[in-house]
Amino acid sequence: MRKRFEDKVIIITGAGMGIGRASSLAFAREGGSVAVVDISEPDGNEVVTQIQDEGGKAVFIHCDVANSKDVQRMVAETVSAFGGVDVLYNNAGVVRYGTVVDMSEEEWDYILNVNLRATFLTCKYTIPEMRKRGGGVIVNTSSVQAFASQRTVAAYSASKGGVLSLTKTVALDHVDENIRCNCIAPASIHTPMLEWGAAMFVPDDPAQAIKEWGELHPMGRVGTPEEVANMVMFLASDESSFSTGSCFFIDGGLLASAL
Ligand SMILES: NC(=O)c1ccc[n+]([C@@H]2O[C@H](COP(=O)([O-])OP(=O)(O)OC[C@H]3O[C@@H](n4cnc5c(N)ncnc54)[C@H](O)[C@@H]3O)[C@@H](O)[C@H]2O)c1
Repeated sequence: MRKRFEDKVIIITGAGMGIGRASSLAFAREGGSVAVVDISEPDGNEVVTQIQDEGGKAVFIHCDVANSKDVQRMVAETVSAFGGVDVLYNNAGVVRYGTVVDMSEEEWDYILNVNLRATFLTCKYTIPEMRKRGGGVIVNTSSVQAFASQRTVAAYSASKGGVLSLTKTVALDHVDENIRCNCIAPASIHTPMLEWGAAMFVPDDPAQAIKEWGELHPMGRVGTPEEVANMVMFLASDESSFSTGSCFFIDGGLLASAL
């Protein structure tokens, strides 16, 4: 049986761990050729090895997505490895905690650069390659934090709100070129990022913190990276062919609840 992403080339940023890692494995299992893009070479190489061991196609590309030269090289290396680009999944992201008063300007710039500027850069340099293929799909990563905030996430929330707005305008600017652009808004997903946050806020019992955060979601648990990957594959495939400029929640009912 034909797999969903056979003959498709997928760039996944932040693919070395967490959601990006699970998504890389999922796309490769569906026949896709995956550019595993990350700032961490050991993590990225591990993902590529796993994909190749399973008989899939992947290359690791070292890239700081906030750096324009890196992004331009990353797109060129993807094209040279696989002949073009069909799907761009902007997943790389970072979080730091603090109010606007106690967060340093450097931390603010770091978060905004990796989460928002990078989304601009990867779109800027990938869309010309999509045009050559007659179209393509972009999936950006926003967050529930773009819709309902918490304390001490000023820079992160602002960056994810920016990604939501950028998604809409990219969708409109390129709708006539057969390029769709949507974003996802996950709530808490069990990844190294979530574990890092739990260890920082509750160093004595991070596992208990994750359990309690899960209980804040109407489904009573945090999500898995695979549940995010499934939504991203839906958005990257023709199954979502009438959707562009939209945001898709993976939040266990969190934003439906006011309590
Ligand atoms: N985990 C959650 O609860 C959650 C919730 C909502 C949204 N998100 C978003 O989902 C995305 C993935 O999150 P995660 O939890 O898997 O994160 P993670 O920290 O577990 O993994 C992030 C990956 O991105 C890579 N990375 C970081 N900076 C980079 C850079 N400058 N260039 C290239 N790669 C870089 C890291 O090396 C790592 O492999 C992020 O955009 C995050 O904001 C996560």
